[in-house]
Amino acid sequence: MTEERSFDLTENHGHVPVLRDRMAELIAPKVKALGDRAVILDGTLGAGGHSEHFLRVFPEARVIGVDRDPVALADAQERLAPFGERFASVQTRFDGFAEAIAAAEGAVFELVSEVGIAGALFDLGVSSMQLDQLDRGFAYRADAPLDMRMDPTHGITAADVLNTYSHGELAHVLKAYGDERFSGKIASAVLREREKEPFTTSARLVELLYAAIPAATRRSGGHPAKRTFQALRIEVNAELDSLAAVIPAVVESLAPSGRAVFMSYQSLEDRIVKKQFAELTASKTPPGLPMDLPGTAPRFKVITRGAEKASEAEIEENPRAAPVRVRAIEKIADDAGGIR
Ligand SMILES: C[S@@+](CC[C@H](N)C(=O)[O-])C[C@H]1O[C@@H](n2cnc3c(N)ncnc32)[C@H](O)[C@@H]1O
Repeated sequence: MTEERSFDLTENHGHVPVLRDRMAELIAPKVKALGDRAVILDGTLGAGGHSEHFLRVFPEARVIGVDRDPVALADAQERLAPFGERFASVQTRFDGFAEAIAAAEGAVFELVSEVGIAGALFDLGVSSMQLDQLDRGFAYRADAPLDMRMDPTHGITAADVLNTYSHGELAHVLKAYGDERFSGKIASAVLREREKEPFTTSARLVELLYAAIPAATRRSGGHPAKRTFQALRIEVNAELDSLAAVIPAVVESLAPSGRAVFMSYQSLEDRIVKKQFAELTASKTPPGLPMDLPGTAPRFKVITRGAEKASEAEIEENPRAAPVRVRAIEKIADDAGGIR
């Protein structure tokens, strides 16, 4: 990878792709082997930073990018237009990637049906662009509408969750998706407050969180709104369902020796990836037999050792990389590729 870093740093469209070179390195073997028959799936297109890098370092490959956020998609389309028909994009949740590939114009569908996906990337969560668009409601440091939908054209908003969920449902969301110790207390405060007036913007919620979380915890536990905002975002976008659904589907669609890479930014995501990888790479032969029975040997292998983290240097250059955990899986070579 001899590409100059200056390109993305000067024209980064508000987003420096995390571990850009490492992601290309992880998918490189099959992408290079397939040459102009290689299709890369970017499941979280965002600003198109990773996709752009792939299009540059794999000059024969095609990239299909999906994102559920129409704003991100429009931005990435413009950015990647110079790559012509080597790049296609579709607005969808990433677990709808197979339909997106079927809908994509050009050779992508034929290639994927014939040989499978050469490499797939999922750079999970929200983008810095989405955080910067204050009216989307992802950031707790500004007073903005409590929306948080990655696809603002449908689904419930964060305000809907706060204004309609029962105490038990709300406390569960805060505990399960935000690991919030004070979930019950916060849920009680939300129910009390919404009796007076429904929630619409974030400042009132942030104020409530300051009051509900004891000062000692506020000093040690980071911003008091961090966990609640993460939990609401995960609930609004059904993020974990989407991740759990895409893993088994995308690995099946890989070409033999093709790889899928997942970049998680919080432990709930990484736990799902780790667990599913463990299941996908386990032999189905009953324990105690000396060798795998026919048809029960694992069809996938994990490429990364544990979860890979960003180096100190990478974190210094791009602080967004600090929490990232990377896991990659490969389809074993004698397995057939393609969408089934
Ligand atoms: C961290 S950003 C990706 C940034 C991208 N790798 C780049 O280099 O610009 C994550 C993107 O994935 C999208 N996203 C998150 N979950 C998604 C899902 N389940 N389906 C489709 N898109 C999703 C978000 O809308 C966001 O634009």
